[in-house]
Amino acid sequence: MPATAPPVANGICTHLGCSPSTAFTPGDPALGADWPGGFLCPCHGSTFDFAGRVFKNKPAPTNLEVPPHQFLGDIRLMIGSDELAPA
Ligand code: FES
Repeated sequence: MPATAPPVANGICTHLGCSPSTAFTPGDPALGADWPGGFLCPCHGSTFDFAGRVFKNKPAPTNLEVPPHQFLGDIRLMIGSDELAPA
């Protein structure tokens, strides 16, 4: 795995299946001064951090789903398979 691995998560909101959009700018005026950056589902307002963890008191019941994946090197990522995961 690379030293700074990118997050891997399905871009499907766990509320009703909409697509969260990027909201990477900390302090985004639309999200408040304490917004740390992450993802926003514009449909009903669920917010997720950069790792796909849902913030409290949002419609989404769970974090974004993480698909099976594995790093094949510093710049290669395979999604859909994780041969190292316990069976
Ligand atoms: S579908 Fe994402 S908040 Fe409703």
